[in-house]
Amino acid sequence: KMNGHRLLLENAQQVVLVCARGELYLTGSELRSLAVLEGASLVVGTDGLIKAVGPADIIRRQFSGETFEERIDCSGKCILPGLVDAHTHPVWAGERVHEFAMKLAGATYMDIHQAGGGINFTVEHTRQASEEELFRSFQQRLQCMMRAGTTLVECKSGYGLNLETELKMLRVIERARRELHLSLSATYCGAHSVPKGKTAVEAADDIISHHLPRLKELSEKGELHVDNIDVFCEKGVFDLDTTRRILEGGKKVGLQINFHGDELHPMKAAELGAELGARAISHLEEVSDEGIAAMAAAQCSAVLLPTTAYMLRLKQPRARKMLDEGVIVALGSDFNPNAYCFSMPMVMHLACVNMRMSMPEALAAATINAAYALGKSHTHGSLEVGKQGDAIIINASRWEHLIYQFGGHQELIDYVITKGKVI
Ligand code: NIG
Ligand code: FE
Repeated sequence: KMNGHRLLLENAQQVVLVCARGELYLTGSELRSLAVLEGASLVVGTDGLIKAVGPADIIRRQFSGETFEERIDCSGKCILPGLVDAHTHPVWAGERVHEFAMKLAGATYMDIHQAGGGINFTVEHTRQASEEELFRSFQQRLQCMMRAGTTLVECKSGYGLNLETELKMLRVIERARRELHLSLSATYCGAHSVPKGKTAVEAADDIISHHLPRLKELSEKGELHVDNIDVFCEKGVFDLDTTRRILEGGKKVGLQINFHGDELHPMKAAELGAELGARAISHLEEVSDEGIAAMAAAQCSAVLLPTTAYMLRLKQPRARKMLDEGVIVALGSDFNPNAYCFSMPMVMHLACVNMRMSMPEALAAATINAAYALGKSHTHGSLEVGKQGDAIIINASRWEHLIYQFGGHQELIDYVITKGKVI
């Protein structure tokens, strides 16, 4: 009997599975070498899921006489899982290129924030922007990310702060989730900054008694799908107690905890996240040793953001220490008006050079572990049978070129595939 399939990727020099035994994350010595097949093929079914992956001759025999809607000869090329970006702020209006100039002239991130720039500047412009305008710029940014190999991306709100604009941002993310080809994880980040005229405690009260119940209602009606709750836990923004209240409130309405912590000052955010069962904590430049141990024990992933430390010339997060302690290390671009980077290959390159990660560690951090940080590693983040058919094909005979090369990735990445479709 003849069977029809969606896509055959044939005879690649290397197929990087990342993992092959259904692991939901990789830590410690598992990261020394990833699962890689030489001379292999991959099949995606009409349901968009991976149907088979293995040595090219075996796949050829197994599928002989069967039909494919599309086939790509991958001779001399490498297939990798679609990249996962575990942390972005991609919905906003108002350029902040002028602040880059200020930072180059010596201003710190907090100098600009406290003078009413930074997040506050973006909030003013995002409140004024129409939903259509926000969607259009968001869509263009997602296309840039896809061209750089990203097929699953976490997207935060957080430039509204008031309920009306936060919902506008979340609707924009929801529309992209329905209309575009890549996969999204939506994060409510109403506690990204303390809105003008309010204290942090007043902002938290408003979030807990107004924002979260509304999100719950909209999700029950099927109008809005929100996955995670985020808070900017930082000295001068939301302190540890206020952060705890907001995160607990989010957890009560069914959101996964995934927040900004220990970035500019040690806050004991890692300890708090581990205690609350957080899926992920981002930044962690200033995390304590106790915080690292607590995160490892709680299987709370660390989303490291090499672009932020680079842009703001912060001290680097202690990736080596976290990896040695068995923390689940993931990576994100942190794309936002401060760190204007769409590219996970660039992020992996920075992680290797500046944070001393190895290339297998960086790739696992940008695939399976990033998917874990979003609670999606059972369906995303590796090339295993049954997972979503999200892959990239690079025009190089060794997969490490994706990290080795810095800049110009459009020339290196030949195809980006989501659910078995070339985009
Ligand atoms: O992850 N640290 C807080 N949030 C962002 C910056 C957002 C902004 O500056 O607009 C970050 O770096
Ligand atoms: Fe961020």
